[in-house]
Amino acid sequence: MRKVLATLGIMVFCTTCLVFGALADDIPDEITMNSTVYKQHKKSLVTWGHTEHAEDFDVACSDCHHRFAGGENVWEEGDAVEKCEACHADPKPPRGKGLSKGQKVGSHYWAMHANCKGCHMEQGGGPVTCNDCHPREKSRWAFTWR
Ligand code: HEC
Ligand code: HEC
Ligand code: HEC
Ligand code: HEC
Repeated sequence: MRKVLATLGIMVFCTTCLVFGALADDIPDEITMNSTVYKQHKKSLVTWGHTEHAEDFDVACSDCHHRFAGGENVWEEGDAVEKCEACHADPKPPRGKGLSKGQKVGSHYWAMHANCKGCHMEQGGGPVTCNDCHPREKSRWAFTWR
C-alpha cells in the first residue's frame, strides 16, 4: 500500500512539474497557426510574433486568451492555455446575414479573423488584407500558371 501511495505521490508531483513547466517555459515566441480543424488549408499559413504582440505592441494576454464564467473573461496570466480550436472548432465561416455573435462564435475561421483582424482594424495597426497575413506562395502561383 505504501509503495502504491508513494508511486501515486510521485506521479502527482511529476504531473504538476509538467504543467508548471509548460506554463513557465512554453510561451512561444513565434507561432505558425496551423489548426487541425481544417482538412486542408486554402490559404498559406499565418506566422506571427506572439511575444512581439505581448511585449512590443502591449497587447494583454487576456485580449486573446480567455475562459468565460458568467459572461466575464476570468483567464489570468499563469492559467493553462488551450488551443483556440478546443472551443472554436467549426472550420466553416459563418454563412448568412445578421447572425448574432452566438451563432458565429463556434467557427474557428470567424474567431481567428474577429480576434486578429478585428483588433488591427480597431487600432488602425497590423495587417488587415488577406495577403499580408497569408503571404502569397510564389511557387504555387508559378505552378498554377502552367
Ligand atoms: C494577440 C493575441 C495573443 C496574445 C497577446 C497572447 N497570446 Fe498566447 N497565443 C495566442 C494564440 C492565437 C496562440 C495559439 C493558439 C492555437 O494554436 O490555437 C497562443 C499560444 C499560447 C501558448 C501555447 C499554447 C499551446 O498549446 O501551445 C501559451 C502558453 C500562451 N499563448 C501564453 C500567452 C501568455 C502568457 C501571454 C501574455 C504574456 C500571451 N499568450 C499573449 C494568442 C495570443
Ligand atoms: C475554453 C474555451 C475557449 C477557448 C480555449 C477560446 N475561446 Fe474564444 N470564446 C469562448 C466563448 C465561450 C466565447 C463567447 C463569449 C461570450 O459569450 O461573449 C468566446 C468568444 C471569442 C471571441 C469573440 C469575443 C468578443 O469580443 O465577442 C473571439 C474573437 C474569440 N473567442 C477568439 C478566441 C481565440 C483567438 C482563442 C485562442 C487564442 C480562443 N478564442 C480560445 C471560448 C473559448
Ligand atoms: C488586441 C490587438 C491585437 C490582436 C488581438 C492581434 N494583433 Fe496583430 N498587431 C497588433 C498591433 C498593435 C500591431 C502593430 C501595428 C504596428 O505598429 O504597425 C500588430 C501587428 C501584427 C503583424 C505585423 C507585425 C510586424 O512585425 O510588422 C502581424 C503579422 C500580426 N499583427 C498578426 C496577428 C495575428 C495572426 C493575430 C491573431 C492571432 C493578431 N495579430 C492579433 C494588435 C493586435
Ligand atoms: C490579421 C491576420 C489575418 C488576415 C488579415 C486574414 N486572415 Fe485568414 N486566417 C488568419 C488566421 C490566424 C487563421 C487561422 C489559421 C489556422 O489556424 O490554421 C486564418 C484562417 C483562414 C482560412 C481557413 C484556413 C485555410 O487556409 O483554409 C481562410 C480560408 C482564410 N483565413 C482566408 C482569409 C481571407 C480570404 C482573408 C482576406 C479577406 C483573410 N483570411 C485575412 C489570419 C488572417
